[in-house]
Order: sequence, then structure tokens, then C-alpha cells
Amino acid sequence: MGVKKIAILPGDGIGVEVTREARQLLEIYREQLGLPLELWDLDLGAERYLRDGTTMPPEVLERIRKECSAVLLGALGDPRVKSNDHARDILFGIRFGCDLFANIRPVRALGDRLVPLKDKRASDVDFVVFRENTEGLYADIGGNLRKGTPGEIAIDEDINTRFGVERIIVAAFEYAKAAKRTRVHMADKSNALRHAHELWLRVFNEVRPRYPGIEGVHMYVDALCLRIVQAPQEFQVIVTCNLCGDIVTDLAAALQGGLGMAASANVHSSDPSRVAMFEPVHGSAPPLVGKDLANPFAAFFTVGMLLAHLGWASEERRIETAIRRAIETGNCTADVGGRLGTQAAGAWVRDEVKRLIQASG
Ligand code: NAD
Ligand code: IPM
Ligand code: MN
Repeated sequence: MGVKKIAILPGDGIGVEVTREARQLLEIYREQLGLPLELWDLDLGAERYLRDGTTMPPEVLERIRKECSAVLLGALGDPRVKSNDHARDILFGIRFGCDLFANIRPVRALGDRLVPLKDKRASDVDFVVFRENTEGLYADIGGNLRKGTPGEIAIDEDINTRFGVERIIVAAFEYAKAAKRTRVHMADKSNALRHAHELWLRVFNEVRPRYPGIEGVHMYVDALCLRIVQAPQEFQVIVTCNLCGDIVTDLAAALQGGLGMAASANVHSSDPSRVAMFEPVHGSAPPLVGKDLANPFAAFFTVGMLLAHLGWASEERRIETAIRRAIETGNCTADVGGRLGTQAAGAWVRDEVKRLIQASG
């Protein structure tokens, strides 16, 4: 197998702290299991932007597209950069620039203790959100008129193409089929957004008969949020637009132990040879920075998704086993009820991964 080049982009705030831990996990795979990984560290983020104005250089994006199998990203966002320009250029530069239209966010609780809902257990929280990642209100089509005056107008257009809506809905059904899931929910606001989201509803109704054996259920996204909290066990796969997916996945992260446990993949799912980007769902969490408080497990799950994407699915399971044990034994950070800091929790899981590798011979 050829060498897989992975761009490491820690970004800002706790993104730097958790990616440091995740990078060391990748190093174990390189050094101990001999996986052919080449790590390429990228100095992009708020520090760099404040230093010399760089956000995402086009030539770096081009090299990511051409040379890399994956990008491991921490988080972007810094209180010193009020415009958030660097974060949008880098994050959306990769998501849009590499056409990574499927943002896949698994929602799974690894222990009963992590589920905050009364009478619900870990086994009740097990679904995957497919968030459209290249269109919608994130398309950056819009502008201002009379900015800064009382007569100001501010517009962000909600861009929904037939092509874009269909490919993410199909990706969700294809995932359900491959993972032997029997239900796909599509969440929209077609009752209010009668053009754009009516398109979502129409396309969903066209696609679902192609998948006999998989129940296609339409829900308005507000009602879906209610139901996720009341009865998470009813959900297996959820497909939705860019903004709704962003909101639903922070809500859902609360059911799996918080943002410190939630991972995501950004892929062009119909073409696995294309570079993909992996990142925790959480952001740079400014209040936690520099305190050794950030939970590195979302970043570890993210490494698991990355390795699975590159063909090492058993390593994703191994990482998950190690994290499950860390949670069970309290060798985790305070947000998930543990007594360790970022670095010690990271080291504990890495040692456990090493032990599991050795035990399997
Ligand atoms: P956030 O996800 O950074 O944090 C919200 C809260 O969740 C934190 O204050 C903390 O209490 C908790 N949390 C998040 N990650 C945690 C972890 N690993 N361990 C323990 N607790 C954790 O969201 P925010 O405060 O709304 O955003 C902060 C900045 O991050 C903003 O600039 C935002 O735009 C950016 N952001 C970036 C990304 C990304 O790069 N993918 C994602 C979300 C937010
Ligand atoms: C996420 C984040 C980003 C998004 C922000 C930082 C622009 O919240 O990845 O969930 O909205 O996509
Ligand atoms: Mn978000």
C-alpha cells in the first residue's frame, strides 16, 4: 500500500490541545503497527493570521487536494479574530474547495453514565447524522446594503440545488443500506421554507422508493429536535441541510456525553479516493484553553473515523474499546465524569491502545 499523507491542522484554542493528543495516537499507528502514514503539519489558524494575514493559501489547498488522503483538523475560532474570516477561509476552504458534501456525524453513547436523559441508556443513543456540507445558508451568497446605517439590509441566500440535495439524501440511504439500518429520517422546514425545503421533501419522496426495506420518515426539524430528546432510540440515520445539521448535531452531542465525545467526517462519499477531512464536532472552546481541561476523546474518535476511511476499520473499533474502558474506569476528563486532564487522559487511552495492539499479537 502506498503512503497515505495526512495534513494535520490543529487550528485554534483547544483544537491545538486535542490535536496534539490525536497526532500522538496516529504516531503509535505509524511506529508500532507500521501503518504507512506521512504526517504533514500545517501552521494555519488565528496565530498565523494575526502574524501575517494568511488564512488558507490556494497552493496549500491544491496540495491537500492532490497529495493528501486526509486532513485531521482541530478547531478554528479565536476571540481575537472577531470577523472569523480565517476560520471560514480554512474550514469552508476545505469543505467547499474539496467538495466534501457529506458531513457525517455519528451520535453514540459509550456508557449509560454519559446519557443525561431520564430512563435512557447508552443503547438508546445510536444514530448517524448526514449533514449537507456544501450548500444551504453556508453558500456565502449574499451581501450588505447600507451597512452600518439604520437602513441596513443583510442577506444570506439559502442555496439548494437538486444535485446537492439528491446526493446527500442518496448518501444517507446508501449508508443505511450498507450498515443494515432500516430507517432514514429527513428533517427540513418545508412548512415554512416552501421553495428550498419543498425541494428537499420532493427529492426525499423520489429517492426513498429506491430503497425498499428502508423506511423513509419525514419530520420537520423542530419536531425532530423534540423527539431526539424524548426518544433517541427511534433514530438510526438522519439527513438534513447544512444549518439544521449543525444545530441538530450539537443537540445530539449532549446525548453522548457532550461535545468532548462527538466526532465527524467530511467526505465526498461517492468518491472515496478523494481527500476527506476529519474533525471533532466541537470548536475551539475559549474558556477551556490552556487549562488542560479539554476532552481529547472527540479528537480520538475522529482519528478512528480517519483510519476507518483509509481502510483500517478494525483500528476504529480498537480506539473505541480503549475509550470505553477509560470512561468506565474514570480515566477521562471532568466533562465526562473523570479525574484526569487532557494530556493524562490522552496518554491513558494511547497506552490502552498500545496494550490492545500487543495483546492481539
Ligand atoms: P465550542 O464547541 O467551542 O464550545 C462550547 C462548549 O462546549 C465549551 O465552552 C465547553 O464547555 C464545551 N466543550 C467543547 N469542546 C469540549 C471538549 N473537547 N472538552 C470539554 N468540553 C468541551 O463552541 P462555541 O463556544 O460556540 O465556539 C467557540 C469557537 O469555536 C467559535 O469561534 C466558533 O466559531 C468555533 N467553532 C469551530 C468549530 C470548528 O472548527 N469545527 C466548531 C464549532 C465552533
Ligand atoms: C461545526 C461548526 C462550524 C459550522 C462553524 C465553526 C462555522 O459549528 O463544524 O459544527 O457551522 O459548520
Ligand atoms: Mn457546529
